[in-house]
Amino acid sequence: MRHFSIFLAILARLGSGVVAQNVANQKIEQLQADMKDTNGQIDTTDNAVPANTSNSLRAGPRGYNLLEDTSVRKKMIHFDRERVPERVVHALGHGAYGQFESYGDWSNLTMACWLQEGAVSEAFTRFSVVVPSMGGSENGRDTHGFATKIYSQCGNQDLVGNHVSSFFIDDGAAFPDLIHAVKYEANKGFPTAGTAHETAYDFFNLHPEGAFQLMNVLSDLGIPRDVRHIAGNGIHTYRFINAQGNSTLFKWYWQPVLGLRSLIYDETQKLQGKNNNFIRIDMYNNIAAGIYPEWEFAVQLFPDDGTYMYQGYDLIIPTVIVPFEVNPPIKLGKLTLNRNPTNFFAEPESVSFAPSNVVDGVTFVPDPLLQWRLMAYDDTTTHRHGSPNGYTLPVNRPIAPFNNNYRDGYMQPYLYEGDSTSTPNDIGGVQEPSQNQTLEYITAGATAGSGPIGRYRAQYDWYGQARTFWGAMDIYARQHTVDAYRFELGNIGVPAVVQRYVDQTLNNIDNCLARRVAYGVGAEMPAIGSGPTTNVTNSTTPYPSLYPLNPGQETNKSNAGLTVAVVAGDNMFGPADMQAMMPLLSAQQVGLAVVAPRIGTLQSGVTANASFTTTSNLFYDAVFFGSIPTRPLR
Ligand SMILES: *[C@@H]1O[C@H](CO)[C@@H](O)[C@H](O)[C@H]1NC(C)=O
Ligand SMILES: *[C@@H]1O[C@H](CO)[C@@H](O)[C@H](O)[C@H]1NC(C)=O
Ligand SMILES: *[C@@H]1O[C@H](CO)[C@@H](O)[C@H](O)[C@H]1NC(C)=O
Ligand SMILES: *[C@@H]1O[C@H](CO)[C@@H](O)[C@H](O)[C@H]1NC(C)=O
Ligand SMILES: *[C@@H]1O[C@H](CO)[C@@H](O)[C@H](O)[C@H]1NC(C)=O
Ligand SMILES: *[C@@H]1O[C@H](CO)[C@@H](O)[C@H](O)[C@H]1NC(C)=O
Ligand SMILES: *[C@@H]1O[C@H](CO)[C@@H](O)[C@H](O)[C@H]1NC(C)=O
Ligand SMILES: *[C@@H]1O[C@H](CO)[C@@H](O)[C@H](O)[C@H]1NC(C)=O
Repeated sequence: MRHFSIFLAILARLGSGVVAQNVANQKIEQLQADMKDTNGQIDTTDNAVPANTSNSLRAGPRGYNLLEDTSVRKKMIHFDRERVPERVVHALGHGAYGQFESYGDWSNLTMACWLQEGAVSEAFTRFSVVVPSMGGSENGRDTHGFATKIYSQCGNQDLVGNHVSSFFIDDGAAFPDLIHAVKYEANKGFPTAGTAHETAYDFFNLHPEGAFQLMNVLSDLGIPRDVRHIAGNGIHTYRFINAQGNSTLFKWYWQPVLGLRSLIYDETQKLQGKNNNFIRIDMYNNIAAGIYPEWEFAVQLFPDDGTYMYQGYDLIIPTVIVPFEVNPPIKLGKLTLNRNPTNFFAEPESVSFAPSNVVDGVTFVPDPLLQWRLMAYDDTTTHRHGSPNGYTLPVNRPIAPFNNNYRDGYMQPYLYEGDSTSTPNDIGGVQEPSQNQTLEYITAGATAGSGPIGRYRAQYDWYGQARTFWGAMDIYARQHTVDAYRFELGNIGVPAVVQRYVDQTLNNIDNCLARRVAYGVGAEMPAIGSGPTTNVTNSTTPYPSLYPLNPGQETNKSNAGLTVAVVAGDNMFGPADMQAMMPLLSAQQVGLAVVAPRIGTLQSGVTANASFTTTSNLFYDAVFFGSIPTRPLR
């Protein structure tokens, strides 16, 4: 009976006929209403009285400050409160607006209005790194966050993922432990970034389910050139519900149209010192120059038969991935980032994401990591904003109408009219939605999961995926990964922690890998044959998609937004050289920096915009040395 009424409700809702629209402009107009241009305006206090607060009010030019200086006091009191607490994880980030466009009519899969024919929605994406605090380096080896908010006509849809496909744990109960372990050590206060320390590997020893994720991060995938060239991964399985109430399970991906690009470890380590904002500068400048990064939204679809299994892959264990060769993703739409924020604090810093922000047509599965994420993001956001009203901030506010009895609290911005603050009510307040206006909770498939109450640890082959990944890398990528393990384990001062990782994690992945790493860090090498051995010299894996950086995997890579430097001098690289070079680079949207001993116009007539003291070869994708001409340039 219940199931029947849900079915009728959905049919009725379908009948109400949401027609997908291009609603991207609605968000832009909403944001414009909140923009405040103070340029050229007279400085006032918060009660709008003009005040010159450049100097303190004092009892004479050499006298004491006066308590009566209310204007400078107000200025100081506000300044003292300018920061909100940084995020516990993903504190260091930046973002941009863009548009999400559905490629077609996906109503067979989902009611989500952002995935219907003709739907175009404004979106905001924030990129981040997990471990460092605000002000740290974005270029270090880390998992990058890739979180997108789609302001759709039927509500905000957040897609909160990471740049690599798996995760370190499979139960949210261990998340506080993971983060405590990878952040700086409690007694020492260092290291403030990276996992090359004892507490992190003590955690990894006891959580071998993260072996695959860690190998991803220790491969060159963990040191992307920038975030225009990273993928996004939803990690969990989610559920689509269509208007008939049919359920289809899915995993989602952002696939970068520019392809993937990584640095090498030595470059990234030096870049952190030379310019720890390289990544956000790259994104900001490219968007400002009209070179808009794009990602296609792709999903793997799995039938919902109630088992949450697909060809032996467990869909509710977030550390388990389904290779694209086993289930090829289909492309549903595209995200284009095309607008930098107006204000860093108000937008990338104040934006809050939550996997619980889904629209009708998207729901969840009993994945114990996802289940905690559904609670924790809203909770931490409420703490950061010091209030549950953060959802009303310009960057967070939906364009779809929102009306509720969430009242009062710090910085509640609205002047709610009327006396009613409870629902249901007969006195004109907020009304209950009828059954046809709301989607009832749907769990398709046999059951939502049931059994004896208990605390369960997922049991599966923790090492198999890491072994497949190891096999998927070519010999160079494998050496880079061995070097990264050596770097991390080689920085740990507790030999027992290192030996345990070698013996119990690496040697269960691959004996040769374990021996190579052990050799480099002075640990005891596991005996030959004491662990499985991957049967490949070169990459012969049936799952090449696991390591897309291998040569030959991404053909037709675009160079858009890369930068070439030419080293010029008064008598080296003249205007004719410049004229010959520019069209070749502009045709590929590649920037040119002219680097010389000093900035300014050189004797050759070419203008240098960077000098040996302001720049570094690390900032460029190629460096060209201008030749010394055989005859004088001028
Ligand atoms: C939705 O339900 C309400 C009352 O429950 C009814 O008045 C209305 O006609 C229904 N709308 C549609 C589109 O079915
Ligand atoms: C503001 O006050 C300072 C002295 O404290 C003075 O030097 C400055 O000229 C004033 N500005 C204007 C615009 O009058
Ligand atoms: C939804 O499920 C019903 C019943 O299983 C089936 O008849 C129908 O074809 C399905 N619709 C879609 C779009 O898959
Ligand atoms: C929905 O349509 C897409 C694209 O045609 C197709 O790949 C997918 O299998 C369909 N899904 C269902 C559940 O019918
Ligand atoms: C290793 O791979 C080769 C080539 O794929 C195959 O011929 C050989 O039988 C494999 N050896 C083992 C021990 O699996
Ligand atoms: C591995 O690749 C190299 C270079 O492409 C090639 O010379 C060599 O024969 C390959 N080895 C195997 C076992 O396929
Ligand atoms: C690569 O680009 C060439 C030339 O533009 C085109 O013919 C070819 O189809 C492209 N290949 C792929 C895999 O996109
Ligand atoms: C010099 O120009 C290049 C290419 O346009 C640009 O990437 C770089 O940021 C510029 N450097 C400075 C210091 O303006």
